[in-house]
Amino acid sequence: MILQNDIIEALVRTIELKDRTTAAHTWRVVLYTRTLAEVFGLDHQTIARLSTAAALHDLGKIDIPDHILQKPGKLTPEEFEIMKTHTVLGYERLVSMGEDDPLILELVRHHHERVDGLGYPDGLRERQIPQAAKMFAVVDTFDALTSIRPYRHEIGLAAARSAAAQLQADRGTHFAPECVDAFIEQFQSGNLHWILEHFNDRCEVPTFDCPTKAEDAVRRLRREQGPHTH
Ligand SMILES: [Fe+2]
Repeated sequence: MILQNDIIEALVRTIELKDRTTAAHTWRVVLYTRTLAEVFGLDHQTIARLSTAAALHDLGKIDIPDHILQKPGKLTPEEFEIMKTHTVLGYERLVSMGEDDPLILELVRHHHERVDGLGYPDGLRERQIPQAAKMFAVVDTFDALTSIRPYRHEIGLAAARSAAAQLQADRGTHFAPECVDAFIEQFQSGNLHWILEHFNDRCEVPTFDCPTKAEDAVRRLRREQGPHTH
């Protein structure tokens, strides 16, 4: 791994500022990713690398013009084409910074691929899509569907149940079946509730620390806040 922890944290701050996302969003996607990685039996070091990748997944949005990134309404087809380039732009930015960890580069580049080949940027299918990117696609979509938005009437568990149903509906077309199954199993067993409930956008959430420094924080939060069983 080339990027130093302070650089990773500075990049995450920049993404949050530019994309108007919050530390809560970063924490949630990192923590969901870690949970899935644990289910798949990945080792400690790989989980730390995946945490970095998850935190940096939308790095390329730094290079997307504000009028597109922050447009309140629906994007035009032309604007959407520009938005889609955040995957390659993030990848290229990391490569230019000297990052050479394939796990990180692949997740950043391929997190919008679909198993039916209709995703972007490269239209990869099924096994062509790196496993980390397949896992993260499920996480990213679930978080997008459950984060609090002014136009969303469902919040919390109600939103999460709808999001889980959406993942099921898109299982095998958008998402890898094994990733959906693992994620839904974790959701249904209540193992994700502490993330969903305690890292929503209404809470004060600590800024994202680099994965190695985050280890203690995650252990502490888990002890304090769950996992819950509902
Ligand atoms: Fe993205």
